[in-house]
Amino acid sequence: MRMIDIIEKKRDGYALTKEEIDFFIKGYTNGDIPDYQASSLAMAIFFQDMTEEERANLTMSMVNSGDVIDLSNIDGIKVDKHSTGGVGDTTTLVLAPLVASVGVPVAKMSGRGLGHTGGTIDKLESAKGFHVELSEDEFVKLVNENQVAVMGQSGNLTPADKKLYALRDVTGTVNSIPLIASSIMSKKIAAGADAIVLDVKTGSGAFMKTIEDAEALAHAMVRIGNNVGRNTMAIISDMSQPLGNAIGNGLELKEAIETLKGQGPDDLTELVLTLGSQMVVLAKQASTLDEAREYLTQSIESGKALEKFKSFISNQGGDASIVDHPENLANAKFKIDYAAKQDGYITEMIANEIGVASMMLGAGRQTKEDVIDLSVGIVLNKKVGDKVKAGESILTIHSNKENIDDIFDKLNESIRIDSESHTPTLIHKIITE
Ligand code: URA
Ligand code: CA
Repeated sequence: MRMIDIIEKKRDGYALTKEEIDFFIKGYTNGDIPDYQASSLAMAIFFQDMTEEERANLTMSMVNSGDVIDLSNIDGIKVDKHSTGGVGDTTTLVLAPLVASVGVPVAKMSGRGLGHTGGTIDKLESAKGFHVELSEDEFVKLVNENQVAVMGQSGNLTPADKKLYALRDVTGTVNSIPLIASSIMSKKIAAGADAIVLDVKTGSGAFMKTIEDAEALAHAMVRIGNNVGRNTMAIISDMSQPLGNAIGNGLELKEAIETLKGQGPDDLTELVLTLGSQMVVLAKQASTLDEAREYLTQSIESGKALEKFKSFISNQGGDASIVDHPENLANAKFKIDYAAKQDGYITEMIANEIGVASMMLGAGRQTKEDVIDLSVGIVLNKKVGDKVKAGESILTIHSNKENIDDIFDKLNESIRIDSESHTPTLIHKIITE
């Protein structure tokens, strides 16, 4: 088999066989196929697309390029959730203990990553002592006994995706549905998921700016999952403004606790119940989405979900007293209000820009080496659609530096007040097949 023939075949619009895709992925991962040929094929895929069968084969070929986590010693159907990324997305912190509390095993591998705030692990580490350095045996034992545990990324997962994603980044081939869908799905499958729930974000703060693009990506991923034997569902949700009220690690942990008590922001609560219902159904702990939602709501009302969160934190060495005393979480030195400059309705809070503002405070990482300040961030007191009066606080900045003129400049660019109100739709679509 020759790479040049595979490139020309795709360039001319034909579908590649499983053997051809495997030849490319194996050869590219081990260095036999050079970057210039791989980038040429990626560009051909960008223009010619891939069939459903090719997408499934590409996904599994990338899964098999490295280690695959074996969760077979954990009882039950392991459902993983993936979000395509957003600002102030506190859902994982709430969902993990919540679905675990109704019997869904949550065996989560998580990384730290870059971004506006830290990842799920950074947020959990706001609880003093919490650690994710578990052996595989401890991890399995914790999930079997308590239904939920989080472990730091281990092993060499999907090296083909790592290499190909970096190449796509510099060759104008990131924005291709078959390549994005196979990239995301390969990582979830390699991490051991039996079933997958996807939260595809749309809006200014998201990777997919329009609903049409988000929907195409969601359908592509759901079909890949179902074609390779992993039950998969997706929703399309709004990321034009940040999710919930808190953006920042400790602040989001506190928001998660409030949400588990049934006192969280409406949008975060609704998103959690929607995604959680899909997870419960995929884990076969309920037969309909409505029934699943009922279990989750009851678990919040009875306090069962909150108890699960406590045991989850303390099982991994964390100080669970913060659940009853969130005021004990690290506090930033200064709390500075950002006030409305005029009367009216908030019409825009650009998610991405507010994310950058929280990163400037120290809540996120620009490079892998950056150290995160877990106490800083932003708490929204108003959201898009809310009425404000001049001088009233729109948000509160939690900062450890007193001079934050640069943050104020950033916020001035990202928040708009107008005379007419509109409320964004939170959940655009639910995709179950
Ligand atoms: N996120 C991924 O993991 N892969 C892509 O290709 C795009 C976004
Ligand atoms: Ca939030």
